[in-house]
Amino acid sequence: MADTIKLHDLEFMPYLSETEIGKIVDEVSIKINEKYAGKSPLFVVILNGAFMFASDLIKKVNVECEISFLRVSSYRGTASTGEVKEMMPIGTNVSGRDIILLEDIVDTGNTMGEIKQQMKDAGANSVSICTLLFKPDAFKGNYLVDFIGVEIPDRFVVGYGLDYDGLGRNLPSIYQIRPNT
Ligand code: IMP
Repeated sequence: MADTIKLHDLEFMPYLSETEIGKIVDEVSIKINEKYAGKSPLFVVILNGAFMFASDLIKKVNVECEISFLRVSSYRGTASTGEVKEMMPIGTNVSGRDIILLEDIVDTGNTMGEIKQQMKDAGANSVSICTLLFKPDAFKGNYLVDFIGVEIPDRFVVGYGLDYDGLGRNLPSIYQIRPNT
């Protein structure tokens, strides 16, 4: 893994390597395959951040499934705005379906809370949340996060789909903001 990187005005240190991420993705896929055996879930990939996680994870899913995409935005810079804007509707009927929301990171939990509620209102049979990263110290939701890759401290991270003001999504590993930046 490379050393410290700079994106815009901030510096980031290596945090999770490609190998570590690969192991985490494997573990999550095993749990999903167990829980959804015999079912036909609909994955809803939350864009933009979850595209890399979703691509790696879904390749390891061995149950019959469908995949859809939902584009939302609630972050500006390194802070959540608390307001979730849906920018691209899912375009698939979720009524009666077993939904698995695929997210890169659950931070305050606002985004997932709102989307989960929207899916339930639209008549989903069940709605699970699967996230690669979870920040327990930032989480304010009153719902369960069903599948968690790894819990991380409440510090801003980039890479593997996650961005800082548009940059960093292409990095194959995850970096954490450098202390005192
Ligand atoms: P929440 O609604 O506060 O849980 O925020 C979820 C969304 O904020 C995620 O889908 C990410 O796009 C973004 N986000 C939260 N924390 C980070 C971070 O540390 N780095 C990059 N994006 C983040």
